[in-house]
Amino acid sequence: MIFLIYILLVLILGFFVVVLPLFLVFALDSLIRGHDLPTSRRATRALAAILQKYKPDAKIFYDLGCARGALSLRLKKILPRVDIYGIDNSAARIFFANLKNKILRRKVNFQKQDIFKTDLSNADVVYTYLWYDLMPMLEKKLQKELKQGTVVITNTSHFQDWQPIEKVVTYPKVSKTPDFETLLVYIKK
Ligand SMILES: C[S@@+](CC[C@H](N)C(=O)[O-])C[C@H]1O[C@@H](n2cnc3c(N)ncnc32)[C@H](O)[C@@H]1O
Repeated sequence: MIFLIYILLVLILGFFVVVLPLFLVFALDSLIRGHDLPTSRRATRALAAILQKYKPDAKIFYDLGCARGALSLRLKKILPRVDIYGIDNSAARIFFANLKNKILRRKVNFQKQDIFKTDLSNADVVYTYLWYDLMPMLEKKLQKELKQGTVVITNTSHFQDWQPIEKVVTYPKVSKTPDFETLLVYIKK
């Protein structure tokens, strides 16, 4: 009986000391920074196949707006020799990305930074899963900064002027948002 009460107290304490604060941090962070929907496993596998097809020798990959690192960590498992940089301006998301990185021993480079201040001149591949309104500004930055031949893959949202060389539909049956998790492949000219 005493043992059961002890377990119950530990659970209650755990809830108030760990679960509740984490929940509040995530809720507040989502309110301030917006959603952080991760790339699905299916789209991650499609992305890895795109990399093998268009940039099999890629060394430096950027996940611009990496959130809690879901895509970066999974891709590192599939392509361990690629140096992956995950950039996000949310301190809470980068904290959890780094925590998972340590636990899973993946060696992804997570950085808390504004993607518009990140130097991308050394990138071989750039990936984004961002809100539509950020895309025109990002398109301009990539046009100015990327070296010729850099592969850029956008998930769901797309650029205005750049023309994709391939469109990979990963969820053909979702009709409400027809471009949901569609990967668009661009090559910097
Ligand atoms: C949909 S999530 C992307 C998730 C991740 N790329 C994945 O596929 O698992 C978009 C992320 O972009 C981040 N973000 C939006 N604007 C940003 C900016 N200017 N600089 C850095 N990160 C930004 C948000 O904080 C959010 O976590």
